[in-house]
Amino acid sequence: MNARTLPGPTAAAASASLSASPSDALADEAIGSFSRSHVHIVEAMNRLRVLPMQLAQRGLDDGVRASAVSIHRFFNDAVLEHHDEEERELFPSLAHSAGTGDDAAHVGSLIARLEREHRELEALWDRIEPGLRRIGRGKAAALDEHAVEQLVATYIAHARFEESAVLPLAARILKSGDRAALALSLAMRRTPYKALGYI
Ligand SMILES: [Fe+2]
Ligand SMILES: [Fe+2]
Repeated sequence: MNARTLPGPTAAAASASLSASPSDALADEAIGSFSRSHVHIVEAMNRLRVLPMQLAQRGLDDGVRASAVSIHRFFNDAVLEHHDEEERELFPSLAHSAGTGDDAAHVGSLIARLEREHRELEALWDRIEPGLRRIGRGKAAALDEHAVEQLVATYIAHARFEESAVLPLAARILKSGDRAALALSLAMRRTPYKALGYI
């Protein structure tokens, strides 16, 4: 599977087109932003998948080094932040909206599964991160090809599940207060002016 086969932000986009107010549109944009992150993550996974073969065929040429640097930076900066945004912002909003109704048990088990998968993905990343960092610096290193393949396959399955089951659920059950709070907290996390809060 590649990025094109991801369902993409269809659920959120469809929801956004039906937004009743500017604040709803902002909230739908917040859900859609998770979809866009998945597309970028799957693209990075597809680049990671071919890196061991490129390294074997070409050695530490400029292209291989640049690819290692960009994948390493993207995972450390964007992917780990994506996990944090889901766990600290999206999942609590989902749990709050589910309340104690019929969706509560389902949402609780979904969140437990997704958080467990995040830890598995991060453990796989820890196995390849040192080698990838060395390759990016032009130093010889072995990449654990089994861990690379496991990380790529597991991440693509994780993103596909979130696209097909979690984001549509969020679009369906998030209550207006939780949607607005989610949009605001994501906007604050992503603003380049966080430091102003300390002035
Ligand atoms: Fe996730
Ligand atoms: Fe995700």
